[in-house]
Amino acid sequence: MGDTIRIALTKGRLEKDTVKLFEKLGFDVSAVKDKGRRLILPISDQNIEVVLAKAADVITYVEHGVCDLGVVGKDTIMEHGGKYFELVDLGFGKCKFALAGKKGEEFYKGYGVKTVASKYTNVTRAFFEGKGMDVDIVKIEGSVELAPLLGLSDGIVDIVETGTTLKENGLEVYEDVAPISARLIVNTVSMKLKKERIDRLVAMIEEKLEEI
Ligand code: PRP
Repeated sequence: MGDTIRIALTKGRLEKDTVKLFEKLGFDVSAVKDKGRRLILPISDQNIEVVLAKAADVITYVEHGVCDLGVVGKDTIMEHGGKYFELVDLGFGKCKFALAGKKGEEFYKGYGVKTVASKYTNVTRAFFEGKGMDVDIVKIEGSVELAPLLGLSDGIVDIVETGTTLKENGLEVYEDVAPISARLIVNTVSMKLKKERIDRLVAMIEEKLEEI
């Protein structure tokens, strides 16, 4: 990588806000905006290279050191774990993990072991372990709201942003699990070898975040 700083960005929702942040820093993001199907893009005026990846892969690339930095949601960080430093809360991509289920039902009632569906089984396990509560966890890949509706589970642990998905399906939040927002993460070796450039970039980002 030489002198270049390579940053992995989570494709999709966080991508737009990250590009906006880079624009506010005065970076030339034209290549990222007109990317077409390209996945590695230069921010040439800064000697930065942007890599677009799925959230969990952002962490993998940063952990392995093929990307120095990454922008990824706290949801993926909590679920994935791993060895890297979390440097900055970027403040965008705000939502939360919540325990939810059918409206009007009491999740904690009764003595039977509850079944909870989630795409985020590690987050779910940690949440109930923290309560000392035994639950059966069922992994669902998407639209996890279906699980309580179909009678597969008593509840779900999922991402809630506006709450619309829950509402439109007759579900409600029983309890908040954790707040989520986008974070800047860094490879542990890059933090040493490219300390000056990374420190400077972080300082610029923090200054802009204060203005927002
Ligand atoms: C997430 C989450 C909910 C929805 C919540 O799904 O799983 O379904 O967003 O948003 P809301 O509170 O604003 O309605 P996402 O769109 O990320 O896709 P997924 O189902 O594949 O996880």
